[in-house]
Amino acid sequence: MKAEELRITIYSYEDTTELPGIGAELIRLAKEATEKAWAPYSQFRVGAALELENGEIITGNNQENIAFPSGLCAERVALFYAGSQYPGVAIKRIALAAYADGRFVAKPVYPCGDCRQVLLEHENRVKQPVEVIMYGENEIKLVKSVSDLLPLPFDYNLTP
Ligand code: THU
Repeated sequence: MKAEELRITIYSYEDTTELPGIGAELIRLAKEATEKAWAPYSQFRVGAALELENGEIITGNNQENIAFPSGLCAERVALFYAGSQYPGVAIKRIALAAYADGRFVAKPVYPCGDCRQVLLEHENRVKQPVEVIMYGENEIKLVKSVSDLLPLPFDYNLTP
C-alpha cells in the first residue's frame, strides 16, 4: 500500500482591502449581482464577478427553475457568458458572494463541484491559473488556482 498526500493552499483575509488586484471591486460587484439573482426556490442568492485578461468585467447570478436541474449557478452564468462574448480570453480572477436570510453569509461559500470542473477546464484551456475569491462577512478566502479547489478533476485521454 502506498499513500499520496496532496497539498493545496487557501489564503484567508479579514478585509477586502487586503486582496490582490481588483479583488475588492470584484467582491463589491459580486455582492451587487446577488440582487438580480432568480432564486425563488432556494432563497439563496449567489453573485459572481469575474475579471478578464482584456480588462472586461462580467457578472452573473444564480438562475433557478421550477424543474430544479434546469437552473444554473452564478459562476457558470458569468463564465459561459464570458466564453460566449470573449472566446479564448483568460479569466484572471472570479469573486463570489451569497445572500440569504436578509444578509450576506458569514462564512464564505465555495463553488459547487460542477462549477469547479467548468472553471478548471477554462484554466487548462487558457494555460494560466484563475484566482477564486470567496466572500463571507466574517472572513474572505482565496485560492490562486482552481486546481486548489479541485485537485483531482475528471479527465480522460483516449490515446493509449
Ligand atoms: N449556487 C450557486 O450559484 N453557486 C454555487 O457554487 C453553489 C450553489 C446556487 C444554486 C442554487 O440556485 C442555489 O445556489 C442553492 O443551491
